[in-house]
Amino acid sequence: AKITFVTTDNESIILEGASGSIMQLAVDNGVSGIDGDCGGVCSCATCHVHVAPEHVEKTGEASEIETDMLELNDHANEYSRLCCQIEITDALDGLVLQVAESE
Ligand code: FES
Repeated sequence: AKITFVTTDNESIILEGASGSIMQLAVDNGVSGIDGDCGGVCSCATCHVHVAPEHVEKTGEASEIETDMLELNDHANEYSRLCCQIEITDALDGLVLQVAESE
């Protein structure tokens, strides 16, 4: 699936991934602002993104543990996800994610 990351500098980075998490795809390709410090176990929030409003139904809902992490985050909004919790599938093709501010 083709996934577009919009960084906090407003740079668009388009990446192609077949499997694994979106966080891993971003980290492997050096997307700035996605650090994946916890390795994808939903405990660091350094993979915070905002899903484009028109794409929220593609990515589904945040899990309870993910929501709990996001509640602690000042930049979280209704479009927030921790992208280590989003598995890449073909259905996500065309997804646009805004990388969240980290502080
Ligand atoms: Fe740590 Fe997603 S990589 S919460």
